[in-house]
Amino acid sequence: MSERVKEITMDIVEATRDVLRKHNVTFPEYRAGFMHLAKTQQAGEIPLLIDVFFNSTVVDIENKTRKGSRAAIQGPYFVEDAPLVDGQLAIRDEDNDQPRMVMRGKVKGTDGQPVAGAVIDVWHSTPEGRYSGIAKHGEIDKKYYRGKITTDANGNYECYSILPVPYQIPNKGPTGQLLEEYMGGHSWRPAHIHYWVHADGLRDVISQAYFEGDQYIENDSCNGGGSEFMVAEAYDGDVRVMEVNFELEPAAAKMQAAE
Ligand code: BEZ
Ligand code: FE
Repeated sequence: MSERVKEITMDIVEATRDVLRKHNVTFPEYRAGFMHLAKTQQAGEIPLLIDVFFNSTVVDIENKTRKGSRAAIQGPYFVEDAPLVDGQLAIRDEDNDQPRMVMRGKVKGTDGQPVAGAVIDVWHSTPEGRYSGIAKHGEIDKKYYRGKITTDANGNYECYSILPVPYQIPNKGPTGQLLEEYMGGHSWRPAHIHYWVHADGLRDVISQAYFEGDQYIENDSCNGGGSEFMVAEAYDGDVRVMEVNFELEPAAAKMQAAE
């Protein structure tokens, strides 16, 4: 048995009961909510629903114990075994006319030392707002728009891809119906790139970079809450430059923070 799981579960149950009492929820309403969740499960959207509402809260909690780069939401579309890439994410033939970007920057420790051999998982959407390697997104091969980049001896990385755009999370299913039809909101996210930075002996960080001025940064359907990386418009020729520098604290800091 886990005391922590038991305590948290009982608190979730009690908090939910409080909401039912507060709103004098009727049996038909209770059933309708229950059926909506069942539909969400059938549609394979439980991970999406949970991340839309709660990922950002856990990020806020985690950031209280962090030094160096802050965490941002991961979302449900990370895949473990993305390909190792060398300076270029794979681009689908049909996207060859899309504008290009280059992701570049440096990984350092909080002691200021560059980190060689750090591995940065990056992933971003297709121009239609879908992710590769996700069955529900139409079986796009996971070699596209995701990969593991490594830093060189000076801690620098560089990788080319196409420019992501603002996208709607899947909005034809029960999660979209909840956000749009029942709650009067929308399902847009600002254009972004996801990062997960790992390096031996250092605390890993999951983050996102946004494009400064994007209208959905402050009005993100997934409560992304922005990020420290709001990158101003800059170009190298006609390639948009996304310069993002990470700072990782020692892994031991994570252990101490959790104690
Ligand atoms: C995403 O950015 O990939 C994402 C985040 C939260 C919910 C859904 C998608
Ligand atoms: Fe995303």
